[in-house]
Amino acid sequence: MSKRVLIVDDEPRYRELYASALSTLSVEITHAGTAEEALEAIGRQVPDLVVSDVRMPGASGIELLERVRAAHESLPFLLVTAHADVREAVSALKLGAVDYLAKPVNLDELLACVRDGLGDWQRGGLDDPPPEVTEGMIAESPVMRALLREAWCIARGEVNVLLMGESGTGKEVMARFIHRSSERAGGPFVAVNCAALPASLLNSELFGHEKGAFTGAVSARKGRFREAKGGTLFLDEIGDMPLELQPVFLRALEQRSITPVGATGETSVDFRLVAATNRSLEEDVQEGLFRADLFYRLNVVALELPPLRERREDIIPLARHFLTEAGGRSKRIARATAALLTGYDWPGNIRELENAMERAHLLTRTEVILPESLPATLRRAVASAEHAPEDDGAFRTLQASEIDSLKRALEQTGGNRTHAAKLLGITRRGLLKKIKRFEL
Ligand SMILES: Nc1ncnc2c1ncn2[C@@H]1O[C@H](COP(=O)(O)OP(=O)(O)OP(=O)(O)O)[C@@H](O)[C@H]1O
Ligand SMILES: [Mg+2]
Repeated sequence: MSKRVLIVDDEPRYRELYASALSTLSVEITHAGTAEEALEAIGRQVPDLVVSDVRMPGASGIELLERVRAAHESLPFLLVTAHADVREAVSALKLGAVDYLAKPVNLDELLACVRDGLGDWQRGGLDDPPPEVTEGMIAESPVMRALLREAWCIARGEVNVLLMGESGTGKEVMARFIHRSSERAGGPFVAVNCAALPASLLNSELFGHEKGAFTGAVSARKGRFREAKGGTLFLDEIGDMPLELQPVFLRALEQRSITPVGATGETSVDFRLVAATNRSLEEDVQEGLFRADLFYRLNVVALELPPLRERREDIIPLARHFLTEAGGRSKRIARATAALLTGYDWPGNIRELENAMERAHLLTRTEVILPESLPATLRRAVASAEHAPEDDGAFRTLQASEIDSLKRALEQTGGNRTHAAKLLGITRRGLLKKIKRFEL
């Protein structure tokens, strides 16, 4: 059953705008033009989330929140305020609004807030993707299974997706999964590694060029944007896109048209964008290395691939999978080997595990993979971790100072999590996780 969102605003066009921003979520939307109408609607059927304007003729959004709270203690309530109302909104947070958004509303931010507000449903109630699209993807851990459900759900829309995660966590695999799960599955999947090309080449690589556009351009070139027509364009290492190319790129995303190098007119393009990065783009934005407007455009939906050490349930199934791929289907992983594999932190993530299993297969003539066939660095790392003295003290002080800065940021921003996350230079999702973990 899809979730219900009630949108309350006296301006019909704002209601339409918010509803359209939420169209990628499969939610059922009800509209109300006044607080009174909203109360009536809630009386008929309690929604799963309310988005309400503050200033409205009749009772305000704050009054509505108070009335709603009296009867529904935990119904997620989002307030949309004009800038002048921010103070009022802060007090609203004390009344139990989950967050507020300042006008003009950033629609990506609205979408993120609503997704967070409906969080439990997003994790629990989504459908599992069918086996034919997950084939070859190992996901046994609860976090990965939830992530696949989420990816499967958003794949069917057209929104830009930003994949984040350490090196080797499976970002490209996820990008291909999104493509396969989308309505563009029949079209091409075009991957470009932004880090592998100098700025001068990236331009013509992406946008193409006309014959004779520059010395050496002996023939015309289509460029990756046009090659991805009807399909998915995967921009890997997007954080390495040169700053000078970013405005043109942003324009292409917004206008859905490009100008090939040396061409006089524009050409329209048609692709779904999936971008990936292994560094914090938010930090890059703060340091002026990445354009904020481009970041928000890319970050409509962000999916974070957790490192392998945070989903240890996947380690052995992945190890078996790679052993089979390497031609060792019949080989068994000894218990002691499995213990080493699950105990190791895998800084190189899945790719490192893949290499380790290929190597172990080659080094093993018998039917059992023994610990000796694993790299010595791995065996040493696990052994020293097992014998390390318990140094909880240092960890706890570190945690205390982290909690301190979280609290300060939340205070400074009057409890607005989006702004607090920005202040801390972490993602909103990351902040929400920390709030939960430290029970703030
Ligand atoms: N869920 C999975 N099941 C099976 N194999 C996987 C899975 N995820 C990743 N892999 C394998 O792990 C390796 C690394 O994955 P991938 O190249 O997608 O990582 P990445 O995050 O793009 O890494 P990098 O940041 O280094 O580019 C690949 O060989 C891929 O096939
Ligand atoms: Mg990659």
